Amino acid sequence: MILGRRLLAAGGLAMLAAPARAQARSLVQVWRDPNCGCCHLWIPHLQAAGFEVQDNQVRSVNAWRRTLGIPSDLLSCHAARVEGFALEGHVPPLAIRRLLAERPAGVRGLAVPGMPIGSPGMEVPGAEPDTYDVIAFGAGPHRPFMRFRGGEPA
Ligand code: CU
Ligand code: CU
Repeated sequence: MILGRRLLAAGGLAMLAAPARAQARSLVQVWRDPNCGCCHLWIPHLQAAGFEVQDNQVRSVNAWRRTLGIPSDLLSCHAARVEGFALEGHVPPLAIRRLLAERPAGVRGLAVPGMPIGSPGMEVPGAEPDTYDVIAFGAGPHRPFMRFRGGEPA
């Protein structure tokens, strides 16, 4: 009887937890150099896409890159973490959403190396937006995950 009641309680908790998790906004933790002119401009794009943002201004972003396991050949200007995945650079929120929805096997994170013109937070009025790949990294070789032109999928 006690066991039965425990199982029932556990089942009830699981049912309560599922919708709560679906409604919760994913938290993106950002680590950035306060002196960088473009990093903070990525944050409103995340918020507009419905992400919760924790903004950490730090002296060494590299220390966080090492912690997050961001490959040194994919560097941009800031590092971040969302639901256990690492992010580097001006990754479009749409690519983050897709990563969280698909959770592809072996992928530890996404990067937009460099700082492509027109990527979220890198808008330059009047300038032609770059076409660039969001790179997935993790087990195995890096691979293109999604292509964008400026802020739009290409
Ligand atoms: Cu930047
Ligand atoms: Cu940045």
